[in-house]
Amino acid sequence: MSRTTRSYPDLTPDELLSTTRAVRRRLDLSRPVEREVLEECLRLAQQAPSGSNEQKWHFVVVTDSAKRAAVGELWREGGERYLAAAEANPKPSQNERLLDSVRHLVAHIHEVPVHVIPCVAGRTDGEPGYIQAGRWASVMPAAWSFMLAARSRGLGTVWTSFHLPREREAAGILGIPYDAVMQAALIPVAYTVGVSFKPASRKPLDTMVHWDEW
Ligand SMILES: Cc1cc2nc3c(=O)[nH]c(=O)nc-3n(C[C@H](O)[C@H](O)[C@H](O)COP(=O)(O)O)c2cc1C
Repeated sequence: MSRTTRSYPDLTPDELLSTTRAVRRRLDLSRPVEREVLEECLRLAQQAPSGSNEQKWHFVVVTDSAKRAAVGELWREGGERYLAAAEANPKPSQNERLLDSVRHLVAHIHEVPVHVIPCVAGRTDGEPGYIQAGRWASVMPAAWSFMLAARSRGLGTVWTSFHLPREREAAGILGIPYDAVMQAALIPVAYTVGVSFKPASRKPLDTMVHWDEW
């Protein structure tokens, strides 16, 4: 099916940029995601910049249910650790909605129809910060482009890092060559329940923007 015959949210560029939320509770776990739609998003992601245009990025798209369950188990372990730490040391600013939403995804991660793992070739463990910055930034713009392209097609995503403490085990499950390739995140992907999302509250701009000097 082509883009013209599918029904997508009708978003201006500014609406797309301001409403691409971290979606956890509103992922439709019962609706499959077509491979061709994922490929459209991945082709758009390939247009992102990378250091020296070396395009060291790789995307592992996990649709196999046994593999999603196995990687999901590693992810859940990280999620439960995060929740336990948040519950043990509640901060005054703690966002209960965020924690509820994380709890929901922890319970359902294995049911999310697609897990996308953006990766970058060349490990930087122990390298100086500027080398690490360049390597990670050679996959993150592509991954965010993927998430924007997904949103524009009615798909929800959320950048997550819960499985990364068990990156080596995830590499084993998925056949990723751990010694040569770093995983940046695990992005659950599904159609959203409804397509309307609002811009989020953010800190005042002048608390985070420094003109000419800090
Ligand atoms: C580096 C990074 C790591 C994150 N890790 C997780 C994670 O492990 N689990 C999770 O549920 N959300 C994770 N998030 C999602 C953030 O919680 C989310 O982007 C943030 O709360 C803003 O959400 P909003 O854009 O919907 O307001 C991560 C986001 C980033 C950028």
